[in-house]
Amino acid sequence: MREGYTFDDVLLEPQRSGVFSRKDVTTRSQFSRGIFLNAPVVSANMDTVTEYRMARFMAESGGIGIIHRFLPIAAQAEEVRKVKRAENVVIDDPYTVNADQNVADAERIMKEKGVSGLPVLDSDGRIAGIITRRDILFAENLGKKVSEAMTKKVITAKAGTTLSEAKKILFRHRIEKLPLADKSGKLRGLITLKDILKRANGESASKDKKGRLLVGAALGVKDDTLERAKALLDAGADVLVVDIAHGHNERALNAIKLLKKKFKGAEIVGGNVATPKGAIDLIKAGADAVKIGIGPGAACTTRIVTGVGVPQLTAVLECARAAEKYKIPAIADGGIRNSGDFSKALAAGASTVMIGSLFAGTDESPGDYVLEDGVGYKFYRGMASRDAADDKTKIDGGHDGAYRAPEGKSGKVSYRGRAKNVLDDLIAGLRSSMSYLGAKNLREFQKNARFIKITQAALRESNIHDMK
Ligand code: XMP
Repeated sequence: MREGYTFDDVLLEPQRSGVFSRKDVTTRSQFSRGIFLNAPVVSANMDTVTEYRMARFMAESGGIGIIHRFLPIAAQAEEVRKVKRAENVVIDDPYTVNADQNVADAERIMKEKGVSGLPVLDSDGRIAGIITRRDILFAENLGKKVSEAMTKKVITAKAGTTLSEAKKILFRHRIEKLPLADKSGKLRGLITLKDILKRANGESASKDKKGRLLVGAALGVKDDTLERAKALLDAGADVLVVDIAHGHNERALNAIKLLKKKFKGAEIVGGNVATPKGAIDLIKAGADAVKIGIGPGAACTTRIVTGVGVPQLTAVLECARAAEKYKIPAIADGGIRNSGDFSKALAAGASTVMIGSLFAGTDESPGDYVLEDGVGYKFYRGMASRDAADDKTKIDGGHDGAYRAPEGKSGKVSYRGRAKNVLDDLIAGLRSSMSYLGAKNLREFQKNARFIKITQAALRESNIHDMK
């Protein structure tokens, strides 16, 4: 019988280093075949971890969040849409007003939608002008037609104009809004200076080609898989995560093949597996990244209930090595309790790390903060817990009546304040770890990593001791 190790069984040996954690290190990494992140962190697709707020925070911070699938299709797609709309540099379907509406209408639309100006369209849908708060201020009579109050000489650019071209035009003409038009003068989008400046300040955020935040969404292997996938992709999801406890299962492999065939070009993550064979079969089915982890999660009882699993460090080491041969990145999923575990998972070969319980305790996760005896908590539950299964039945309707042993628990986790606190600790710990190993980037980190197996006595020594 061979041995398997997890995070507490090992330490990383220090190496000669001329690297300083603050200035020399980059944590940029590959999440899936076509998606790269500045922070190798993924928030878990669990209903006590990732909905719109967490996903938005993760992308703004350079990582990515995966919206959980324990929602009706339309509701899950709406969570995706909210993230894609959050920081939208090219707005595909801007709010507009018609030239023959009143100035009062324009004012109302701007107020309702929280925007400072509207492209004005003529009766054929062509751009006739633009109306801003300033124009309204000087209109005097709100009963006037928009066409009388708007700025008629409007600068437009071709649909498909890049952000850097748009920025030049905005600066050259000292304007704040740039409508995009097709050949016939019809409105095809809008670029605003405000969004371009925001983007320039937040270089590290995870963005798509249009400047919108990245977001992923999970789906299971069910009758509605294709319908759910289509709704999520239509809403703008950048990646779909096939979320199955046993990803090395014929149904999971077939689902990946089918999704890759039906939705050409869509990024699909497969999981979860814990053996090299599992990782390779997912890749052969078409997976653009493989998710590793059977039973390491804080709320998981799979190993206790079924006796099945692979200690997470060994699983990551072996699966990531197998996936690397196919140039497919591995996501280490579950069991991370601190920045040391996080660093070990990446050093072992993972390109990114998925995290549940640490983020469940933050303001950005769904659910309320509870105060008990002066201590703050938030609710956290395994998605295979009895609790979650009962709620899922309410959403899906039917249940086949067969008894299934729950493979997760529900409970509380410590309240940790803003998610930024957790993320900053993880990244700072990782940077420091990289500097101990003389690594400027994650590739070098993995190359330089030498694990040493430790004893229980060494683990006691590692933790704080002999002090109160
Ligand atoms: P952490 O340790 O970060 O782990 O909280 C998050 C991961 O745990 C997995 N997960 C489960 N595993 N039963 C399981 O065996 C469950 O009910 C369950 N719910 C979540 C999942 O991989 C998640 O990303």
